[in-house]
Amino acid sequence: MKEQIETIQADALAAVAAATDERSLDDARVAFLGKKGSLTLASAGMKDLPNDQKPIMGQALNVARTAITQAIDEKKAALEAEADKKSVEGIDLTLPGRELLQGGLHPLTLVKDRAVSILRRMGFALADGPEIETEYHCFDALNTPDDHPARNEKDTFYFDSGKLLRTHTSSVQIRTMEKASAPVRIIAPGSAYRRDEIDATHLSVFNQLEGLYVDKDVKLGDLKGTLEYFLRAMFGTDTEVRFRPHFFPFTEPSFEIDVKLHVKGQEPKWIEVAGCGMVDPAVFSSVSDQRKDDAFDPENVTGFAFGMGIDRLAMIQYGIKDIRLLIENDARFLQQFA
Ligand code: PHE
Repeated sequence: MKEQIETIQADALAAVAAATDERSLDDARVAFLGKKGSLTLASAGMKDLPNDQKPIMGQALNVARTAITQAIDEKKAALEAEADKKSVEGIDLTLPGRELLQGGLHPLTLVKDRAVSILRRMGFALADGPEIETEYHCFDALNTPDDHPARNEKDTFYFDSGKLLRTHTSSVQIRTMEKASAPVRIIAPGSAYRRDEIDATHLSVFNQLEGLYVDKDVKLGDLKGTLEYFLRAMFGTDTEVRFRPHFFPFTEPSFEIDVKLHVKGQEPKWIEVAGCGMVDPAVFSSVSDQRKDDAFDPENVTGFAFGMGIDRLAMIQYGIKDIRLLIENDARFLQQFA
């Protein structure tokens, strides 16, 4: 039986040496050491041996098992090392790495964040309201009568329920005054929707930033000073700003604000960036009717409001000549801001 074990060991070592990959090495392991492997079967024969033979055979079996196991381990390590070497063959480790593309914020987000941070430093707190609005919050409470053109089917996206996609963020003025009490100093960035013809300066989904300041004795000078300060903080102290008298149902007097847009290779031109004005007493009255108290009694408080187009601010900031670039997601355009 001793010879039998020695033969098994010799065969096993030869099979291990001949193995060319992990698979054939494992086949060899199973053939000799596996449950039905030849060495395993040989050890099962131990029990039939006379007692004085058992220790000798036991030792021989152990020697064989150890030798085969060790050979398998060594062969395995050698095969792995060889595979590792192969896997880097032909790779030049001295080549420079490949640059990873880095994401960046969209120019609209950059401009919105900057505008919000400047206004927050000036004491305005963030507020918001729903984009699917009631006609009351979007129009009626803002002194905008039924026959106003903005309420026309052709200008506004209505739902069957009678609700609508807000045409401006001014509805947040009402939402805020329903709950707060004076003094109120808020800003509300968000989307607004209109059935506008899309062109170089108009989108049907655009971004506004609403502002509202209500307190005792808020004056037109406060409005002008606040917005001029803001626009110069945004675009630089030499920014040209102009206030043009205008009409909004919810402010009186009202203005539109234009800023000079400079695009490389083009004549500078004025573009409208905001509407603003002193809150119309009729707005305070409708808020007071709803609240049934005098927190916003037009006899006690005055205020100013403004609504800026964030898309237009981005055009001024970066000299973008076509607003559509902001929604086309062309990587060549966006990469310039990353
Ligand atoms: N809501 C107006 C618009 O969308 C802008 C505006 C806001 C005007 C607040 C006056 C006061 O055009």
